[in-house]
Amino acid sequence: MENIVIYFSGTGNNLKVAKIISKELENCEVVSMTKPFNFIKQYDSIGFVYPTYFWGLPKKLLNLLKNIILDNNKNTYYYSITTYGGSAGNAIYQLYELLLKNMV
Ligand SMILES: Cc1cc2nc3c(=O)[nH]c(=O)nc-3n(C[C@H](O)[C@H](O)[C@H](O)COP(=O)(O)O)c2cc1C
Repeated sequence: MENIVIYFSGTGNNLKVAKIISKELENCEVVSMTKPFNFIKQYDSIGFVYPTYFWGLPKKLLNLLKNIILDNNKNTYYYSITTYGGSAGNAIYQLYELLLKNMV
């Protein structure tokens, strides 16, 4: 069983969230979106944790999703968490839309 939480954090909130989640999961890596990473391994779950920026996704995550190859993780459980100041806008839906494009 392998799990991964991939996060982006400017001021630390999402790093904290990513660490809390990873402690609850068995065998869970925590990886920053700021470093190159590939999803060659097959995971049981992949979580995206990120701040809402301008009611949407931060550029780091948009770039990651543009280049992401998930061929080995078609049956993986995906989830996302965003922290925000007052309005998350489209930040969760936008992620699922881009992820789904990757799956078909
Ligand atoms: C450039 C920028 C844009 C933001 N846009 C929003 C927004 O549209 N809606 C909102 O509720 N919070 C917004 N926030 C607040 C962050 O989403 C919030 O503080 C988040 O918890 C920061 O996470 P971090 O500590 O992991 O960087 C914005 C923050 C920044 C720096």
